[in-house]
Amino acid sequence: MEHLSAEARAVERTDAPPDAVPDGQSSVDSLDETVLLDVRDVTLRFGGVTALDGVSFDVRRGELFAVIGPNGAGKTSIFNCLNGVYRPQQGTITLGDKRLVGRAPAAIAALGIARTFQNLGLFEHLTLIDNLMLGRHHLMRTGFLTGMLWWGRAKREEVRHRAAVEEIVELLELEPYRRTPAGLLPYGVAKRAELGRALAMEPTLLLLDEPVAGMNLEETEDMARYLIEVRRELDLAMILVEHDMRLVMDLADRVLALDFGVVIASGTPDEVQRDPKVIEAYLGGAA
Ligand SMILES: Nc1ncnc2c1ncn2[C@@H]1O[C@H](COP(=O)(O)OP(=O)(O)O)[C@@H](O)[C@H]1O
Ligand SMILES: [Mg+2]
Repeated sequence: MEHLSAEARAVERTDAPPDAVPDGQSSVDSLDETVLLDVRDVTLRFGGVTALDGVSFDVRRGELFAVIGPNGAGKTSIFNCLNGVYRPQQGTITLGDKRLVGRAPAAIAALGIARTFQNLGLFEHLTLIDNLMLGRHHLMRTGFLTGMLWWGRAKREEVRHRAAVEEIVELLELEPYRRTPAGLLPYGVAKRAELGRALAMEPTLLLLDEPVAGMNLEETEDMARYLIEVRRELDLAMILVEHDMRLVMDLADRVLALDFGVVIASGTPDEVQRDPKVIEAYLGGAA
C-alpha cells in the first residue's frame, strides 16, 4: 500500500477511519494522517514558460516533505504559489480548511506558513536577536508606536516575545551571536539564523528553500542536525526544497520529484531515489 498515488491516499484517508488502516504499514503510514496542506492540479505559467504543470501533492501534520528536482524544475515556484507571491492560473491550495490561492503573502503568513529564502532574507544591520524579533512582528498586538503609548501592555508583550525568541536561540545554539549584526554572521550561522527567524513566526508549516545551498559538508551536516532537532522539539510540518538529493534522503518522510514543472515521481525517499525518471532527470541535468 505504500505504492498508492497521492490521490489514492487522499481517497483512502477520507473514506476510511484512522483505525481501519490495515496492518503492515510503513513508517510513512504511521505518521499523523491528517492532511495539513493540499495542493491540487496547480499550473503556473510565465508567458510561454510553464513553470508548474498540474502539480498535486499533500503534506500531513508534522511531516517533513521534500521537493527535489534539477535547476529550473519549478521548486521555488511551488513555494511562491504557496505563500501568495505568485498566483497559479489553475488549481487549488488548501491549508487546513483555508483556500490560499488569491490571498496576499501577509495574509498567508498570518495563517501559519513561514519560509526561508534561497538567498538570505535577514536585515544585515540588525542584530540576530532583532531579526528574530521581527519574525514575530505579525504576532504582536501592539505595534512599535502604540507600544510606546501603552507602555505597560507593550512591556508584558515584549517580555513574552523575547522569551519565545530566546527559546529558538537556545534550540539552534545561536547564543554566541545574539548581538552580532546579521551581515557579519558566518554563512552557515546566517542560514541558521534565517531558520530561526522563520521559526519565530510560530508557523504550522515551514517552507525551506535550499537551506544548505552554498554550504560545505560540515555546515550541511550541522544544518541537518538542527532540522532534526527542530522536528523533535516543535510541532510543525516542513517542506524542504532541495537540489542536493542526499540531504533529502536522510531527512524526508516523503519526496516529490519535479522536472520541467511536471511531477515525475513521488513516494518514500527510497522509492524516489531508485526511480529511473529521477535518475534520468539528474543525470540529464548534469550532462
Ligand atoms: N518570475 C518569473 N518570470 C519568468 N519565469 C520564471 C519566473 N520564476 C520562475 N520562472 C521560470 O520557471 C521555471 C521554474 O523556475 P524555479 O521555480 O525557480 O525553478 P527551481 O527553483 O526548481 O530551480 C524556470 O524555467 C524559470 O525560468
Ligand atoms: Mg529555486
